[in-house]
Amino acid sequence: EKGGYEHYMRKEIHEQPQSLRQTIAGRLDVDGGDVDLDVSLSEEQLQSLDEIEFVACGTSYYAGLYAARLFETLADVRASVTIASEYDFGGGRDPWRTLTVAVTQSGETADTLSAIRAAKQAGAQTLAVTNTLGSTVTREVDDSVFIRAGPEIGVAATKTFASQVATLALLAVYVGRRRNALRAGRASTLLENLRALPGAVQQVLDNEPVVEELADTYADSEAFFFIGRELAYPVALEGALKLKEISYDHAEGFAAGELKHGPLALVTEETPVLASLTDGSRAEKTHSNVKEVQARGAPVIAAASADGDGTRPAVDEQLPVPNIGLVEPLAANVYWQLFAYHVAANKGRPIDKPRNLAKSVTVE
Ligand code: M6R
Repeated sequence: EKGGYEHYMRKEIHEQPQSLRQTIAGRLDVDGGDVDLDVSLSEEQLQSLDEIEFVACGTSYYAGLYAARLFETLADVRASVTIASEYDFGGGRDPWRTLTVAVTQSGETADTLSAIRAAKQAGAQTLAVTNTLGSTVTREVDDSVFIRAGPEIGVAATKTFASQVATLALLAVYVGRRRNALRAGRASTLLENLRALPGAVQQVLDNEPVVEELADTYADSEAFFFIGRELAYPVALEGALKLKEISYDHAEGFAAGELKHGPLALVTEETPVLASLTDGSRAEKTHSNVKEVQARGAPVIAAASADGDGTRPAVDEQLPVPNIGLVEPLAANVYWQLFAYHVAANKGRPIDKPRNLAKSVTVE
């Protein structure tokens, strides 16, 4: 049932080209610059929105962070993200002009369900982005969009993160077009990038032997720091969560620009830094952060756009990311999934069932 893989997590990482194809199947109109999504929100409702807010936990929260950036860029709407267990509708907002989107793989996460109930009670319109047909969340919200990633068994979310972000990117195009905020040409480019994403992820997967060797080299480090900006910031957070969850090592994700405001004090020769230098992440700015950590002796592993400019700093290992515009950080993320997997495998951890964690968290 694990299809020859030792762990579901590795199987699910490798399923991503296929699961992403399922996510986008029949939903892209690349030539027309639009998407075909079965959402019942009317054009009038979408045009009158002041704000789209995402509520989610863990990896789904990071998918929400990625999505919020995309919505602000593509749909010209204020977008915010709240950790579901911290949610409260808050003041100074018009619920009738707010769309609250629950991002939840399982559709059963108690914190996310209670956040969406609070939003609904305040009068907001509600939407679920989920992997699970018939899940509790789908019965609570006005409408649902399915990510179609297929069942995920490993406790660590991998393929569902990719499919959540891809689905939310489609939704951003859908909303952007209907708010007349996104031109067809720009939408086409993003849709082309999404169409190229499965192939790009396959190219990353083909480099697994390199990542495995890196993981073996650095497995015994004191801590691991992931850095990125903009769309690569949630990817830094996600890379660190994956690593701590399954390897039990100390890992943190930082907005690259924040290093100098504190975390830099932690950086030594014993703390590898994993940087995402892709499109949509102001990579040229992150270069200076790479230099900052190198000056403290930290080894640097960079997942970088294949066509990155010649000014890129020399690093200990450069992992190439195919050029696919605003979804490049998603392909970079696959390197960090593989890295986390191989560090944990190196230590013989129970990868599919890490201690103290459950696949679906049904208590608040
Ligand atoms: O099913 P959900 O997407 O609502 O789950 C949210 C989190 O519990 C989940 O993403 C968790 O953080 C994962 N174990 C991360 O790998």
